[in-house]
Amino acid sequence: MPEVLPIYFAPLQGYTEAIYRNAHAATFGGVDTYYTPFVRLEKGTFRNREIRDIEPENNEVKHLIPQLIGNEPEKLEAILSLFIEKGYREVDINMGCPFPVLTKRHNGSGILPFPEEVEKLLGVIQKHPEISFSVKMRLGWEQAEECLELVSLLNALPLNHITMHPRIGKQQYKGNVDLEGFAAFAEACQHPLIYNGDIKSVEDIEYIHTRFPSLSGIMIGRGLLMNPALAIEYKERKSLSNEEMREKLHAMHKLVFTRYEERIQGGEGQLVSKMKAFWEYLEPQIGHKAWKAIHKSTNLAKYNAAIGLL
Ligand SMILES: Cc1cc2nc3c(=O)[nH]c(=O)nc-3n(C[C@H](O)[C@H](O)[C@H](O)COP(=O)(O)O)c2cc1C
Repeated sequence: MPEVLPIYFAPLQGYTEAIYRNAHAATFGGVDTYYTPFVRLEKGTFRNREIRDIEPENNEVKHLIPQLIGNEPEKLEAILSLFIEKGYREVDINMGCPFPVLTKRHNGSGILPFPEEVEKLLGVIQKHPEISFSVKMRLGWEQAEECLELVSLLNALPLNHITMHPRIGKQQYKGNVDLEGFAAFAEACQHPLIYNGDIKSVEDIEYIHTRFPSLSGIMIGRGLLMNPALAIEYKERKSLSNEEMREKLHAMHKLVFTRYEERIQGGEGQLVSKMKAFWEYLEPQIGHKAWKAIHKSTNLAKYNAAIGLL
């Protein structure tokens, strides 16, 4: 029987917050490690919701790695202090985010064409031997070869692993993943390597594993939002029946809804829009009619009526 790879749930800003992660682990499961969406320093301060999201008392999953993003070592140090204060000993550094507001200041994948800046930024890693660091990155910002310029400096750092999403930043999420580019990086990279990008089925996981047998894991984002059972289906090598899927989705929805209802004090509009995000990628599970009714609901009564269609 082929080796079963660990599954990592990708960080997805606006989707995989603590409430979602807890509910996913409690209902579907199958994920070995969850990541928080990135925490950043903005005008010298943190956003309250980002602090709340990493607060240990709000997190119930077995293994959670907080992620940070920044373009200067001082910023990284400040975020790192927050993570250390909260008790974390593993930290992921984002060098993959493609959003122009961040990349234009060389955050995320915007730093990839600048090896000297990467080296300066990642100098923080050597100052904290007590922390186990990982990096999540793309092949480059403009060109897939940028990562090859960085690989020797990455190899020289004591990283726990690298997660590679084989697109360039300029592509955002468009176009295809570049498996040739991934192969070139994999060959040069001496750290444990995790594959990330466009995994939507158990067959996709197996295809990537066969193509890259030395992988240390698979990270899945949107594929798990579309099918929250994907990790457990891979681990247990069987698909959920329609009935099991329906039950688990209802259970997960109940947990998420109840927690957001307690949390959100700003009126039902905010609650409805948060719940719409929960369903956004779930059309394949619930069908177009129910999905559209949820999507169109403008208040709680309409939302609940749409949920009644499920
Ligand atoms: C809405 C959205 C938010 C994201 N937020 C983050 C983030 O906070 N940190 C990060 O490293 N990647 C983030 N990503 C990238 C994903 O983690 C992942 O690398 C990407 O979606 C490709 O994997 P997938 O095809 O399995 O979704 C985000 C992607 C999307 C679509």
